[in-house]
This record gives sequence, C-alpha cells and structure tokens, in this order.
Amino acid sequence: MPHLTALRCIRCAKDLLPAAAPAYTCACGGNLLAQYDFDRVRRELSRAHLATDPDRTLWRYAPLLPVDRGTHAARLNVGWTPLLDAPALAAHLGLKQLQLKDETRHPSGSLKDRAGAIALAVAHARGETRVAGASTGNAASSLACLAARTGMKTTIFVPESAPPAKLAQILLFGATVIQVRGTYDQAFDLCLQACQEYGWYNRNTGFNPFTREGKKTVSFEIAEQRAFEVPDWVVVPVGDGNILSGVWKGFVDFKAAGLIDRLPKLLAAQASGSNAVTLALEGDGKLRPVSGTTIADSISVSLPRDGEAAVAAVRESKGAAVAVPDEEILAAMRLLARTEGVFAEPAAATAIACLSRAVEQGKIPKDASVVALITGSGLKDVVSAMKAAGTPHLIDPDLASLKRLIEQKEKR
Ligand SMILES: Cc1ncc(COP(=O)(O)O)c(C=O)c1O
Ligand SMILES: [Zn+2]
Repeated sequence: MPHLTALRCIRCAKDLLPAAAPAYTCACGGNLLAQYDFDRVRRELSRAHLATDPDRTLWRYAPLLPVDRGTHAARLNVGWTPLLDAPALAAHLGLKQLQLKDETRHPSGSLKDRAGAIALAVAHARGETRVAGASTGNAASSLACLAARTGMKTTIFVPESAPPAKLAQILLFGATVIQVRGTYDQAFDLCLQACQEYGWYNRNTGFNPFTREGKKTVSFEIAEQRAFEVPDWVVVPVGDGNILSGVWKGFVDFKAAGLIDRLPKLLAAQASGSNAVTLALEGDGKLRPVSGTTIADSISVSLPRDGEAAVAAVRESKGAAVAVPDEEILAAMRLLARTEGVFAEPAAATAIACLSRAVEQGKIPKDASVVALITGSGLKDVVSAMKAAGTPHLIDPDLASLKRLIEQKEKR
C-alpha cells in the first residue's frame, strides 16, 4: 500500500485526504503536494534496503511514491539514468566539480518519462482507460511512449509550433494528437476543458499532483549515486516549474525519510523570453504572464503552471534564478556537446548556459559541487541543433577535392 497520507494545498495549506480529495487541484485553485507517513517510509526505505535492491528503475523508491508499482509498471523502464562526471566542462566554466544527470537516456529521451510513469500508474490504479495531456512536446511523447507499452489510450494537445521530431514520436507511438492553433498555454486550457467534457484522466503538468511525484525521483537518484552526499547546487531548466518543484520535493522527502542530512540550493534556469519564475523571484514573488518566446520550446511558457511551488522551492533552498538569451542557449548546446559528448535539446542546454552566467556573476561559488540536469535529447529538435552545429564541408568524391579542402582549412 502506498504511504500517501494527504494532498496539501500549496496556497492555503489545507490537507485533502487522498480518497476524498478531488483528483487534481484544491478548491482555492492551488496545486497539491503529496504528503507521506514517514514513520512507515523509514521502515521500508533505508540506505541498507537500497544497497540490496536490484531494481534499477524509479520503482526502487516505491515507499515514497503515491501509487503501488502495479503489474504494468514492470514494463516501464524509467529512471536510474547516469550521473556523469564532467571535468572538461567544469574546467571551462571555472568550477571545481560538475556532474550531469543525463536524462536524455530515458525511453522517450527526456526526464518527462518519470512523470509519465507515475501518472500512468495512477491512471491504471484508478481504472481509467484514456489519459490526456497538454505538452510542449516531451511530456506528450513520454506519455504516448509509455502508454504504448501498457495499452492505455492517450489524447495529446500540443501547440502548433511543437518541433517535428517530438510530433513524430507522439504520432508513431499511436496517440491521438490534437495540434492547437495557439500556444502551449492555450493547449493546456483546452485539455482541461476536454477532460471535464469527456471524463479522461488529466496528466497536465502541475495540475496533476503526481507529475511532481515522478519528477522528484531524479533527486533520489542524484543523492544515491553520490553515496548520499548532497551536492551544493542543482541546476534545473524551468518552464512550468514542475521539474524544479519536483527536484526540491525529492530532496525534502529524502531528508524526511532520514536518507540524507542536508538540502542543496537550486538554480532556476530560464530563457530570457520565458522568464516568469526569474522575474517573480527578483520581484515580489508573484507570477505574471510573459511572452513565452524562446528557441527552447520545452520551456516556452507564458504563465508557469507550477510556478508558485517553483518560486517557493528556490526561496526555501536559498537558491537563485538566471535567465539567458537564445544565443547563449545555442552556445551552451555546442559547449556541452564538444566538452562532454552530451547532445542536449535547447531547454536542457539552458541549464549549462545559466550555470555559466551564475558562476560569472558569483551566484554559484567556483568551489561548489554542482549537478546540472540535462533534461532532454538534442535529437528531439534537430532544426535548433543545426543552428548551433554549423554546416558540413561539401566536396566531390575524389581525393583531389579533399586535399584542396584540407589545404584551404590549413591556410585559415
Ligand atoms: C527537456 C525539458 N527541460 C525542461 C523542462 C521544464 O520543465 P517544467 O515545465 O516542469 O519546468 C521541460 C518541460 O517540458 C522539458 O521537456
Ligand atoms: Zn487551497
């Protein structure tokens, strides 16, 4: 049995009992935070338990998840992505210690598989037959991918601008794809209406309290892969702010379970054109809509749907926020690929661009231990990657042409 005890409203702090609670948000409009019985969690989840558990998926943390593993879950190989040392990139940024949590290795190529796995398990447990979700692309390709392995039907709402590779993934996995002539925010609202109208289970980020519960497992893994030594800073790309609030909740839950003894500081990494969380943190803490325009489509959000929890997380962690222009995001894609061999999509590379700025500005000290989340694969948006990558040398298929090219290059 899951050890979930309540869903607590982040706005009015009211506790809703899981059974009696609405499936989604509080009556006041606030998103909900899952609460656990930590006495029971501690009896089932300790360093000793983890050391002997052969399960290399996020289900190894089942006592801290809101739903039982269920029979279908064994088919979802999500979690336990590599934590890579990044010495060359660290040197380039002037940092002593940097690690990359490489979430590009997930089944659908992004961190969203963590949220998809948990949301789908909840939907199965509730006996739902169709799950719907709005997405800039990754949440949807994840949901469609994982659902394909369980037989659940999915309906996806994406903005018209979603990159072709993400659309190809979603379509190929067999989801019904509704491409909305409008923004992600409009797709999100239409999905809310559709779920009310047709009774589908709604996976919308933040609105569904369990997406955060999936995403928090990335922090459990970071802690465990570092032998329970918590890093000083964790850098998180932010659109809706749900990964960020999930990362924070992961460390907070692990500390409450007695598995770690301190918490990291969080750096919220945003694009200048989609910087609502950064502006809120620099100002009065209130979220106001921004234009939401950036090359980093996954974090292109006007009004972040888990923004309140994200702002609270950065403040509680005594962290910081940085927003960078698109040119710096493209430069970071190049730098990350060329120093560490990791191919990131623009939203993911935003973590590196913002980390660079934060070190320059003295927000993150050079001797800090830092983990950056590389949240999605560069193969998901090849058009943007080509903007960062440059062009190949085109020659005729003979040695003379090759020699001419090499001579020209040497002269330069
Ligand atoms: C690759 C990638 N990075 C970062 C994010 C930002 O996550 P959130 O919207 O929860 O802030 C997303 C969300 O779609 C994403 O797909
Ligand atoms: Zn409330």
